[in-house]
Amino acid sequence: HHILKFVLSCAGGNGMLTPRTMTSIAPSKGLSNEPGQNSCFLNSALQVLWHLDIFRRSFRQLTTHKCMEDSCIFCALKSIFAQFQYSSEKVLPSDALRSALAKTFQDEQRFQLGIMDDAAECFENILMRIHFHIAEETKEDICTARHCIPHQKFAMTLFEQCVCSSCGASSDPLPFIQMVHYISTTSLCNQAVKMLETREKATPGMFGELLRNASMGDLRSCPSQCGQQLRMARVLLNSPEIITIGLVWDSEQSDLAEDVIHTLGTCLRLGDLFYRVTEEKARQSELYLVGMVCYYGKHYSTFFFQTKIRRWMYFDDAHVKEVYGAVLVVGHTDNINQLTVYLIYYL
Ligand SMILES: *[C@@H]1O[C@H](CO)[C@@H](O)[C@H](O)[C@H]1NC(C)=O
Ligand SMILES: [Zn+2]
Ligand SMILES: [Zn+2]
Ligand SMILES: [Zn+2]
Repeated sequence: HHILKFVLSCAGGNGMLTPRTMTSIAPSKGLSNEPGQNSCFLNSALQVLWHLDIFRRSFRQLTTHKCMEDSCIFCALKSIFAQFQYSSEKVLPSDALRSALAKTFQDEQRFQLGIMDDAAECFENILMRIHFHIAEETKEDICTARHCIPHQKFAMTLFEQCVCSSCGASSDPLPFIQMVHYISTTSLCNQAVKMLETREKATPGMFGELLRNASMGDLRSCPSQCGQQLRMARVLLNSPEIITIGLVWDSEQSDLAEDVIHTLGTCLRLGDLFYRVTEEKARQSELYLVGMVCYYGKHYSTFFFQTKIRRWMYFDDAHVKEVYGAVLVVGHTDNINQLTVYLIYYL
């Protein structure tokens, strides 16, 4: 078998690489996952939240919340964050959060103890629960609470519409909010192949546009039936500071994994990612890749760029490693039909 390599080309000249003075920080910690617990999906989501500077700092400032006692995700998250910061242990248990999550989602039968679940959905749901704990009075789809980190920093406020270039007719705009921007890997690879047919070489700078082209969806008929075939266009109405992209493995084909990895870019312009971006601030935004959650061999692990020490770290439950050099070994490609990658971009 050969080993799938993922090259992270952190281009110079961006803000991420300017040296900073070292500040004393608690070294990264692992999260335990005993046999039968199947907590790797939660551990990955948790490492992402802890390592995202914007989240960690804003969450620290939140104090009051609607408490749900022993099923309180807010309290469980506060507690594990305190341990991340002050504990002298190298490996922490994520059991309290696991249990609060299981109790909270008992009715839906999601995230139950001992059962494997999806890291991106866990991440999204933790964010939505934080909204519930601190801004419950405002509805999820129109939350404007300034202290609501999930909606202020993570949420993408979008509308979807198709407009006919031939007759000018348009479909009713469909507004929605998403915490994770999901894209099919099959579609991403098809777009990458098309792109390579018309260009000499792919550059990482094209990644945003490639994602946009890949998320356009299927052709549909013009709303006024003029005969034109159109695609849905997505318009971004806000300026999120963190963008999470979920690459969804939707085919059984195994030979795309390497292609997907090769299309990944480390810099993302919001203006490229959507058909139209209404806010000037968002149009100017360039975000840098800071984290990656990989699903491989029915197991989640996480890569994260630690801004304070300016190094990539690898988190596999209890194990934490520093990643040296620019080549990350993601996994063996024996039977790689399930490499799901979540990318987290940061302003
Ligand atoms: C995206 O699609 C447009 C229209 O089909 C095409 O002109 C452009 O080259 C594509 N971009 C990339 C990066 O593939
Ligand atoms: Zn509480
Ligand atoms: Zn909110
Ligand atoms: Zn038309």
